[in-house]
Amino acid sequence: MKVIELAAPRVDALHSCTYPDPVPGPAEVLVRLRAASLNFLDIAVATGKYPLNNFPIIPVTDGAGEIAAIGAAVTDWTVGERVIPHFIPNWQDGRMPTAGGGPRRGIDLPGSLAEYVVVPAHSLVHTPAHLSHAEAATLPIAATTAWRAVRTAGLGPHKTALVLGTGGVSLFAMQFARAHGARVLVTSSSDEKLERARKLGADEIINYKFTPKWADAVLRLTDGRGADLVLETGGAATFPQSIEAAGLDSTVFIIGFLSGTEVSINVVPVMERRIRLQGNNTGPVADFADAAAAMTAHGIKPVLDATFPMDQAQAAYRHLAEGGHFGKIAISIP
Ligand SMILES: NC(=O)c1ccc[n+]([C@@H]2O[C@H](COP(=O)([O-])OP(=O)(O)OC[C@H]3O[C@@H](n4cnc5c(N)ncnc54)[C@H](OP(=O)(O)O)[C@@H]3O)[C@@H](O)[C@H]2O)c1
Repeated sequence: MKVIELAAPRVDALHSCTYPDPVPGPAEVLVRLRAASLNFLDIAVATGKYPLNNFPIIPVTDGAGEIAAIGAAVTDWTVGERVIPHFIPNWQDGRMPTAGGGPRRGIDLPGSLAEYVVVPAHSLVHTPAHLSHAEAATLPIAATTAWRAVRTAGLGPHKTALVLGTGGVSLFAMQFARAHGARVLVTSSSDEKLERARKLGADEIINYKFTPKWADAVLRLTDGRGADLVLETGGAATFPQSIEAAGLDSTVFIIGFLSGTEVSINVVPVMERRIRLQGNNTGPVADFADAAAAMTAHGIKPVLDATFPMDQAQAAYRHLAEGGHFGKIAISIP
């Protein structure tokens, strides 16, 4: 099969080669991949920011396709079904089995830049009927994480979500928050991206470059109450203001460190406003399946910024690393 291999932790070490076709074991499924999608994690792996010593690897955590063959013990899936393998295949539900959740696709297991992959049958989720393979490939990490943020915060009518930036997780969180009846505030460094977010349903938009004290804007736009969910993607540069922008009994859902990991915060407002600081590391197959079901029920489509052909994988990685994207970046697999 044709594969894009990552030979070393450098984007220019992505190269085309041929591997033997994998064969499914009794409880496994062979998936003919049709698309992959990038996350910040894939950039970290391909730039040495994520410590790995198992190169060469088949990279990219997220992908989608259709079942090409099933193992002898698989009874609940059939050849031809459109599927999305989860990125942590053995985290089924509930608590994480280990600190990292177990082996992950595109890191310690074969990833999505390949024509075929073998995965455990229990790691599959049905592709929502209204989504293309490229759209479906964007779901595992970003939609699962966004879904958990919205559910953990208990969003609903009369509640407000604040999502930082217009990356993949933030836009999914905006869509899920709206589907729960909540109001959504979006920040971005770009007015053009903010206008796009407004067209997608953002109720209020804040340019964090032009409004460096964006937490004050959040308080103003919520009549002083603050947000019930803050999707904290920024880390060092955003965390203190995320606390300022968080309301009474709110959740600051900590998922990223785009601007650094070390922060100093005042604990008093955390105590006084009973703010829950909730860390997260993606989620299990069950949450992914719930997120996909919600997308079907509400007709939610991922926001696809661009789709690159597989032989231009390096360009796709660079596009994400440059940060000009709005939403998700896909790679089509012929
Ligand atoms: N722990 C988890 O469960 C989990 C799961 C998924 C992702 N993550 C992490 O969450 C972060 C976001 O993931 P993603 O896939 O959505 O990333 P992404 O698609 O690359 O989006 C990143 C966006 O964040 C915004 N941003 C960058 N620096 C910022 C800053 N200082 N303040 C506010 N916004 C800033 C930018 O939006 P604008 O261009 O609009 O300014 C940028 O486009 C990454 O760090 C990723 O590793 C964690």
